[in-house]
Amino acid sequence: MPKQFILDLVADMTLEEKAMQMTQLAPEFFYHKEPANLTGPFRQWRFEEDQLACMGSTLGPSGASYLRRLQEDYLAVSRQKIPLLFMSDVIHGYRTVYPIPLAQGCSFDDALVEEAAAATAKEAAAAGLHVTFSPMVDLVRDPRWGRVMESPGEDPYLNGRMAAAMVRGYQGTDLKEKGRIAACIKHFAAYGQPEAGREYNTVDMSRGVLRDFYLPPYQEAVKAGAAMVMTSFNLVERVPATCNKLLLRRILRSEWGFKGVVISDFAAVDETMNHSVAADPEEAARKCVQAGLDIEMMSGVYASALKKLVEEGRLAESEVDECVIRILELKDRLGLFENPYKDADEKDEKTLLLCKEHRALSRKLAREGMVLLKNNGILPLDGSQKIGLAGPFADTGCILGGWHCEGKVEEAVTLRQGMEESLGRKLPVGMSAPFLYTERHDVPDDVCGALDALSDSQVCVVAIGEPQWETGEASSRTNLRLTPHQEKLVHALKAAGKQVVAVLFTGRPMEIAPILEDCDAVLQVWFPGTEGGRAVSDILFGQYNPSGKLAMTFPRNVGQIPVYYNHYQTGRPLVREDDYFTSRYLDCPNSPLFAFGYGLSYTEFTCSGLAASPDGTQASVTVKNVGARAGETVVQLYVRDVSASVARPVKELKAYRRIALEAGEKAAVSFEVTDDMLGFYNEEEEWVHEPGWFDLFVGLDSERVEQVRIYRK
Ligand code: BGC
Repeated sequence: MPKQFILDLVADMTLEEKAMQMTQLAPEFFYHKEPANLTGPFRQWRFEEDQLACMGSTLGPSGASYLRRLQEDYLAVSRQKIPLLFMSDVIHGYRTVYPIPLAQGCSFDDALVEEAAAATAKEAAAAGLHVTFSPMVDLVRDPRWGRVMESPGEDPYLNGRMAAAMVRGYQGTDLKEKGRIAACIKHFAAYGQPEAGREYNTVDMSRGVLRDFYLPPYQEAVKAGAAMVMTSFNLVERVPATCNKLLLRRILRSEWGFKGVVISDFAAVDETMNHSVAADPEEAARKCVQAGLDIEMMSGVYASALKKLVEEGRLAESEVDECVIRILELKDRLGLFENPYKDADEKDEKTLLLCKEHRALSRKLAREGMVLLKNNGILPLDGSQKIGLAGPFADTGCILGGWHCEGKVEEAVTLRQGMEESLGRKLPVGMSAPFLYTERHDVPDDVCGALDALSDSQVCVVAIGEPQWETGEASSRTNLRLTPHQEKLVHALKAAGKQVVAVLFTGRPMEIAPILEDCDAVLQVWFPGTEGGRAVSDILFGQYNPSGKLAMTFPRNVGQIPVYYNHYQTGRPLVREDDYFTSRYLDCPNSPLFAFGYGLSYTEFTCSGLAASPDGTQASVTVKNVGARAGETVVQLYVRDVSASVARPVKELKAYRRIALEAGEKAAVSFEVTDDMLGFYNEEEEWVHEPGWFDLFVGLDSERVEQVRIYRK
């Protein structure tokens, strides 16, 4: 039952005020300026001054002094004095930028991810924000889609754990507490599988696939207590998520018991008309409200239509009230009725933003998310070698990645700075000019110059990848190869007899097979954030032993996409290469270039002796560091249901543990195998655990595993 003062406020509200409480706009509207960076069909919406005096929340800008003033100016003109809610995209850090979420997924380190989210919340709260549009936990299998960088990866279980960690980090246990902000899970649901990887494209999947893979991460975030959910742009079973009753009423609210606020994505209420499920704003508004969509982001459909709909009896006022109550309850949970400014504080901004502790945390998480893909022994480098540096990421702060919020490229540590700091000497640098915003988005071809600059270098660290502005929203591609001039640089250095260490700065798995041969080592560093240069350097020089594992499969080529580890089995699986009529390609193996869970270390680990308890409720292995240095690895437990009422994936990650071992040390690792790990949604969409045979797999990646069969009653 809502609190009485909330019911009183709602009873006192006019329909126009309710509609505006349910409308989110950029603050520029309030100040009557033409808003910057508007996309979509926004320009058609115009708001009257008295409407803007009762809008419910804002999107975008932050900063303690700006948001305090905005709240003050707003409360001065607002009749009911209901404080504004300030929301923004604080995706992987506020001013201190942490590695992109895909890299965070590769850390398999929930505790550190939670810590980074908590530090992010402190900065964002000091800057006056109340809600972040994070975590984004759309499951991703298609690196053509630019937004894979925003997701922790391709696995429902890993994404779920990361989602929960981020929610705990942002929110803590009490949103009123200083330094806490509300989390908004997005994009509900299944936005991660646009057809052909093309942004905003149609999504079409079976209910079983939705249940098996796509829904669990959002559900984990709900269980962790996320205060808000954002709907996705796409269709789910032919209905836009924005007005999808199956998703919002049945699954989210009824099955999962979500009591928080649901917001649309940018202008998506308006876009239901493009999806051809609404002929006009009134129909769009009615459908969205009836589905339980509380806030419309950045379009004016609710503002223009709700009053009329209620007055004409096409929408019950109680349906509108339901949304308004939820919004006011969130404001109450954040303590805004007592203190509308919450934690906005210029002094705190000065001490917290980009503070030493946050930078150190960012460096730590960046290192853990980096994945060593290849190493013929050249790494770690020995400082006495003649080392040179080349490539567009050699000396740039453009390593923060998309959605870097208030992060500034000039505050990021470049790779050159990081390496020179470690070495204590200057490095020769070649071909480091940035990407050109031309049709090809390549870097200028200065391979000759690079060969010249690095003529004395025996080891060349080649910092290559994709520009950070080519990842994130609206950044789909059909070609995932490195640009021609970057590939040429690698080949030329190799041909000149150099040892080549490729450091890949990308927001997605790219097609790196064409350069792999010519690289002696490949380190995937994603977009590592503010301390990126130092974090990479820590690994290159062995101050940190790499431990990241791939959260997303690397394809051999674009034609293999989607390629992911937890697929269903075909009736004709490829067992023998010479068996023609099996599920395979003529021109490419089925296996990926690098599988989910894969990642090398400077030491070597073995994982052996998998045994299950007689009742199949425990699985244990021995993990041993058989190399010469201390290191960390991630032990992974997968299951497969051998015979079920519906087909089950060939493997599903169900548990993992990050462990640290000294050289020569071994550890027994055991996992509990719960009923929940073996359950699934059956054809009737009931969560069931069907007794029978299951295979358990344990290993240090998804391919090289030991296997044991268990029977479970
Ligand atoms: C994106 C969301 C984001 C929103 C607000 C949209 O275009 O899809 O992820 O939260 O804008 O910036």
